[in-house]
Amino acid sequence: MRGFILGIVITILVLLLGGLGLALLGFLPTRANSAPPEMERHLAMSALDNSVERHAPRVNNPVPPTDENLIEGLKIYTMNCALCHGGIDRQPSTLEKSFYPPPPNLILHPPDDAEWHVFYLIHNGVRYTGMPAWDKTLSEGDIWKLTAFLTRVEKLPPSVQDYWKKSSGANPPTGSQGHDEHK
Ligand code: HEC
Repeated sequence: MRGFILGIVITILVLLLGGLGLALLGFLPTRANSAPPEMERHLAMSALDNSVERHAPRVNNPVPPTDENLIEGLKIYTMNCALCHGGIDRQPSTLEKSFYPPPPNLILHPPDDAEWHVFYLIHNGVRYTGMPAWDKTLSEGDIWKLTAFLTRVEKLPPSVQDYWKKSSGANPPTGSQGHDEHK
């Protein structure tokens, strides 16, 4: 029994050292301009989702979703996020294929998670990806406005939809495209 356990420990050590050795000898790919394999994407998304579920405080959005706050959220989005996540003109983002993993288009596929979940992702960023933490750049109030906007992209009140149309020339998405294609 002892020999068996020792065998397992040694195997794990050899695998770990082998992995480290391969990494240090330059065998791991580091290019950002390729698409992650399906299996890796699936594992990473589940790990991210579950980590947020474990760590994020369950708080309600303190910012009420008034027309004014939603329009503010739209403006903050356009200034800070559209470059990577796609603009309200509904065109693909310039950098859509330049990150590993790629940024999801949040206008065509808006997040369907709870607001505390989305707030936590924006506030803290996502480690090992191009998603920055915004806590040093945006105020908590602004991040909540963004969250209110992003979780309502497909069900905005008429006056916010009008603002959207006027400033982009495109119609806001209505939800018929389905949101989960990027997951
Ligand atoms: C420099 C590029 C970049 C900018 C700017 C950026 N993001 Fe991201 N974002 C990413 C990438 C890359 C990911 C994908 C992370 C992953 O796959 O886990 C991501 C992921 C996300 C997610 C998680 C999506 C999901 O499917 O769970 C949200 C929400 C998000 N970003 C919101 C924002 C908001 C809001 C802003 C603006 C304040 C913003 N991002 C600005 C690159 C960016």
